[in-house]
Amino acid sequence: MHSEWIFDQIESLKIRKKINLLDFASGDGRNCIPLSKKNIIVTAIDKDQEKLNKYKSFKNINTICFDLETTEEWPLIKEYYDVIIVVNYLYRPKIKNLINLIKKNGFLFYETFSLGNEEYGSPMNPNFLLKDKELLDIFSQDLLPLSFYDGKLHHGKTAIKQTASFKKKASYK
Ligand SMILES: C[S@@+](CC[C@H](N)C(=O)[O-])C[C@H]1O[C@@H](n2cnc3c(N)ncnc32)[C@H](O)[C@@H]1O
Repeated sequence: MHSEWIFDQIESLKIRKKINLLDFASGDGRNCIPLSKKNIIVTAIDKDQEKLNKYKSFKNINTICFDLETTEEWPLIKEYYDVIIVVNYLYRPKIKNLINLIKKNGFLFYETFSLGNEEYGSPMNPNFLLKDKELLDIFSQDLLPLSFYDGKLHHGKTAIKQTASFKKKASYK
């Protein structure tokens, strides 16, 4: 089942012409597969080729198998994506590199686990849990925050998560 929050954000854009969307750490494609049927050209990147194999030949989806946590430059095009989605993935050392990938007037929709989730299950490792307001602290200097939430989300099971949406202003330099 896809992320309802991500789908609500995409719906709110009222997409009428084709857009480019990056699904960052796309996993088994639960978000990008259904999105690719909505006037959306998807780039899906993940280090797990087996997962990508399930949808690599789908129309409107381009898959890239790549380890996003090495010193190698990401094989992604700068200022190319109208929308970037990140769900249930966090790697702090390179997280700000996402900003340059977004087109001006484009959007970043980020949803992942935050502190407090340990009570409900995995992940429990603080490397994978956002601190208070952390998504805002990371991105607000460069991107305009549109929404922020930190708390319980019920999605099959209860989790503690942050969701945050941002827009890259046309005036961004
Ligand atoms: C919890 S899954 C989330 C997948 C998808 N975003 C979703 O919500 O269904 C995390 C994903 O991150 C990917 N991943 C973890 N470390 C990675 C890395 N170093 N480089 C690229 N992908 C990575 C995993 O292969 C996995 O598919």
